Amino acid sequence: MKNIIVGILTLIIIALMGYTASKGGAWQGGEAGKITENVASMQKETVATPVVAPIEQKSDRDIENEKLKSLKDKAGNAVTFKVSDKYKQKCASCHGAGGEGIVGLPLFGQSAESIYEKLIDFKSGKRQNPIMKGAIMNIGEADFKELAQEISEFKARAEALKQ
Ligand code: HEC
Repeated sequence: MKNIIVGILTLIIIALMGYTASKGGAWQGGEAGKITENVASMQKETVATPVVAPIEQKSDRDIENEKLKSLKDKAGNAVTFKVSDKYKQKCASCHGAGGEGIVGLPLFGQSAESIYEKLIDFKSGKRQNPIMKGAIMNIGEADFKELAQEISEFKARAEALKQ
């Protein structure tokens, strides 16, 4: 009895092997293997010219240096208008002498309401950023309003100088 069962199972297995072989060979991944082959050949066809992005070849340090350089250039242009001592002391080190952004994001051109709301969000922890939170921890809401108002005027101040 045992032998008969083993015999039947063996036959089934052999039949299955024959079936998969006729479908493209299980050793190549069968149908799935064909699909990956097709995709591979499609990729070869479509990506004719290798896209060599020069940026990717630069080291992080190079990129950082370039960023710094362009920011310094920008800062050099932006400091032409006057900013308050409060802004200089409390914000300029990270956001740039003219709000152009260094470590901190650019603030130049943003509205007073938007800047004020963002400051409140940082302080309350609604928007989490340890650097900003640390930077504004000891600044009160009245100062937030004043600074937000001032920063929102940077763009007009810069434009006034150009004319
Ligand atoms: C020690 C550095 C540092 C100082 C000082 C600092 N900030 Fe920031 N600030 C940051 C960083 C970093 C971010 C980005 C946070 C983030 O990605 O969420 C930021 C983000 C902001 C944003 C959000 C900008 C946006 O578009 O989402 C505002 C507004 C802002 N700072 C205002 C100020 C003001 C006003 C002061 C001065 C009272 C100040 N910051 C001082 C580092 C600083």
